[in-house]
Amino acid sequence: MSTYQPDEKRYEKMQYRRCGKSGIKLPLISLGLWHNFGDNDDFGNARNILRTAFNNGITHFDLANNYGPPYGSAEKNFGKIFKEDFQAYRDELIISTKAGWDMWPGPYGNFGSRKYLIASLDQSLKRMGLDYVDIFYHHRPDPETPLEETMGALDQIVRDGKALYVGISQYNAEDTAKAAKILKEQRTPFLIHQPRYNMMDRWVEDGLLDTLERIGIGSIVFSPLEQGILTSKYLHGIPEDSRAATEGSYLDRSQITDEVVAQVQELNKIAESRGQSLAQMAVAWLLKDHRVTSVLVGVSKVSQLEDNIAAIQNIEFSKEELQKIDKILKK
Ligand SMILES: NC(=O)c1ccc[n+]([C@@H]2O[C@H](COP(=O)([O-])OP(=O)(O)OC[C@H]3O[C@@H](n4cnc5c(N)ncnc54)[C@H](OP(=O)(O)O)[C@@H]3O)[C@@H](O)[C@H]2O)c1
Repeated sequence: MSTYQPDEKRYEKMQYRRCGKSGIKLPLISLGLWHNFGDNDDFGNARNILRTAFNNGITHFDLANNYGPPYGSAEKNFGKIFKEDFQAYRDELIISTKAGWDMWPGPYGNFGSRKYLIASLDQSLKRMGLDYVDIFYHHRPDPETPLEETMGALDQIVRDGKALYVGISQYNAEDTAKAAKILKEQRTPFLIHQPRYNMMDRWVEDGLLDTLERIGIGSIVFSPLEQGILTSKYLHGIPEDSRAATEGSYLDRSQITDEVVAQVQELNKIAESRGQSLAQMAVAWLLKDHRVTSVLVGVSKVSQLEDNIAAIQNIEFSKEELQKIDKILKK
């Protein structure tokens, strides 16, 4: 039996933003389980990260079928922690999962078929020990499957009571508008888009955020810290316990170039002048835009999560600060 008692003041510590024109509000900071929750990671650390999140009013945990490694293990480990610590708080949580990237061998374990999405969510629910997820996403666009089929599968999943809302991830503005039209015709509760967005990667500013606002859909942005580059972590070399030093991760040592380090050092000076860590400034920079509903951080340590949460204390930027940031990043 768990001895976990969440902080009674948790909802005073976080701020919440409405997700598009829906009835749902999300915390300004949400927690992603892509890394650090697999079978090779420290289970006790993973559990402490989840507890710290909820103790600070983070009500949203984001997963996907293939988070781990191995695939499925983040959902399985989350399920174990959920059962012991969070079952009593199910109605206080927004739990999401996704399908769209490779999950199992053969032609039915990838992309966007009805067959894949429905089977995958059934597997995810079993691994997590849940009756339903709050949000089910199509994880990436599928250039070959008709959008009607993929959106039809999302609708079916909601009708079957396996998800309350649906979302899409990594879709460009044009495909998002097409998907939204189909979902509206089907009356599917389309809540949210999950794009990649941070100070260094700004593709969403070229139409996606405008499209989302026009259709009344919220956004939760991933890799807000450019996987750790937009923190003080790589200011003086590559620490051995960092993502860039980890074999098989999506952040390679070769991405930490001298030019990147020089930019990060300059950004760090602006963060210091604001009384923030660089990670905090990077999170705040995203939250300055009301079209960003929530910033989806990943963390390998409780201290990182605490650092990131404190970003919400100052999300205002002067024009000069924004111009300086753009100049450093050549935007
Ligand atoms: N929809 C999609 O296609 C998609 C794709 C990717 C991610 N996501 C979601 O987005 C979530 C976040 O993505 P991400 O992990 O790439 O995000 P991120 O927040 O940009 O990077 C997380 C990493 O940055 C480092 N970090 C975080 N806070 C720090 C701090 N305060 N100080 C120093 N270092 C810090 C840690 O790296 P170290 O391990 O080096 O300590 C951490 O693992 C994922 O968990 C997942 O839920 C979705």
